[in-house]
Amino acid sequence: MFFILFLPLVLVLLVLGCVQPSLAKESRAEKFLRQHMDSNTSTVNASYCNQMMKRRNMTVGFCKPVNTFIHEPLPDVQVICFQGNVTCKNGKPNCHQSSSKMRITDCRLKKGSKYPKCDYETKQQEKFIIVACECVQYETVHFDGSENHFFSQEA
Ligand SMILES: *[C@@H]1O[C@H](CO)[C@@H](O)[C@H](O)[C@H]1NC(C)=O
Ligand SMILES: *[C@@H]1O[C@H](CO)[C@@H](O)[C@H](O)[C@H]1NC(C)=O
Ligand SMILES: *[C@@H]1O[C@H](CO)[C@@H](O)[C@H](O)[C@H]1NC(C)=O
Ligand SMILES: *[C@@H]1O[C@H](CO)[C@@H](O)[C@H](O)[C@H]1NC(C)=O
Repeated sequence: MFFILFLPLVLVLLVLGCVQPSLAKESRAEKFLRQHMDSNTSTVNASYCNQMMKRRNMTVGFCKPVNTFIHEPLPDVQVICFQGNVTCKNGKPNCHQSSSKMRITDCRLKKGSKYPKCDYETKQQEKFIIVACECVQYETVHFDGSENHFFSQEA
């Protein structure tokens, strides 16, 4: 009980401690928000990915081939940094898997789609997600993947 009450406060303090000195450049945590967070799930339809990939600047210069949007409240995503430790795809140890399934939309560039006409397939799913966390594990900075089944990794 005590821990639960304190968790939000701790998160806020840690996030404040990690503010980038430079205001001009997008931080890794801000980039994560731009590329992966859309708490509003009510707007997902067949053209969702085409609209969102463009609106979130992932079709600038080239079409980002694959991207996942998370439709859960931000605190529910940030708290994953305190959940299951897993090794990231790049071998780093700072990845974490959500302890519950999350509503997500996978966007995948359709075959034959050529920049600047980025045409995406929109696929809604409910999966465990894996994110990388930085700054003493409290800020989500990278989307590493999603899983149909919960797994714990020994590595
Ligand atoms: C979610 O999207 C709907 C439809 O576009 C909009 O009316 C609503 O205000 C949005 N909610 C939030 C929290 O952004
Ligand atoms: C999909 O939803 C967007 C709003 O998020 C709306 O502007 C668009 O017309 C919708 N498209 C279809 C095909 O329903
Ligand atoms: C996308 O890029 C434009 C131009 O650089 C910028 O004004 C806009 O704020 C960006 N949108 C997002 C969601 O970052
Ligand atoms: C859990 O992950 C953090 C980095 O996010 C790492 O520093 C720590 O050693 C890991 N703990 C275990 C038990 O693997």
